Amino acid sequence: MEPDSSQDKAKRAAGVQAIATYLKNGMKIGLGSGTTSRWFIHTLGDRVKQGLEVIGAPTSNSTRDLARQLGVPLADLNDVGELDLTIDGADEIDANGRMIKGGAANLLWEKIIACASMKMVALVDESKVVSKLGKFPLPIEVIPFGWRTTEGHLKKLFSDFGWTDIPIKVRGGLQTPLITDSGHYLLDCELGEIGDPDGLALKLNQIPGVVHRPTERYDAVWCPPLRLAGSYARLRNPVLEHLGRLEGSWIIIGTSGGGGRDSEFFQAS
Ligand code: 5RP
Repeated sequence: MEPDSSQDKAKRAAGVQAIATYLKNGMKIGLGSGTTSRWFIHTLGDRVKQGLEVIGAPTSNSTRDLARQLGVPLADLNDVGELDLTIDGADEIDANGRMIKGGAANLLWEKIIACASMKMVALVDESKVVSKLGKFPLPIEVIPFGWRTTEGHLKKLFSDFGWTDIPIKVRGGLQTPLITDSGHYLLDCELGEIGDPDGLALKLNQIPGVVHRPTERYDAVWCPPLRLAGSYARLRNPVLEHLGRLEGSWIIIGTSGGGGRDSEFFQAS
């Protein structure tokens, strides 16, 4: 498959670069979801046809279907255990490496896969780099049972954080709600700028019906496009592997998995 738009070309270029830089023969890899990840998986399929040996653990049913169709060998996460690497996209990332994921509704499996990985690489473009998270409604995955009660808890929490009258929408609408791969709903919460994402994530996790906090703190920083030297990264965080600007101004950020693993796993080589 060939990309039509410059944005798709850029997405593909990012995937090609990520594979060339991070992927090694024999690796067990988490396969992300979303349009950026789909391009990466297409390239991965080509590499597998050329002889690359990898085993993929998908972060969604749609990723599993695509990988299978492209001949990428797959395994159940239960059978492979720890993964060497996950390559995925993101919806937003701030200067502290905090990301919001879930735009494509796959946040829970993505989180589980990232936490099982020794390293995570996020492919993002400049449009996704924000000074404060909250450009898009915050997606929160909730259990359908008693979801109105959960929504009530969310409203209370948002008000504790200083927000008033936040619109909360069930993704897909009440008549035909989107059901995630795990059988849950997504509530899109129009918060606007999130001043304290870490504090919010902590509190979100304490609400019984919330199955995944959508903001994720990864050990990464983003590099402004004009400051490509690794020195900028090293100032903040030794785990960053920054590859520089790619076609269409895409950048790649190497991050640790979300599992709170020891950072020595992630030292930039
Ligand atoms: C899915 C995700 C995706 O990685 C995120 O939405 C980015 O998608 P895209 O590459 O299409 O912009 O988190 O849940």
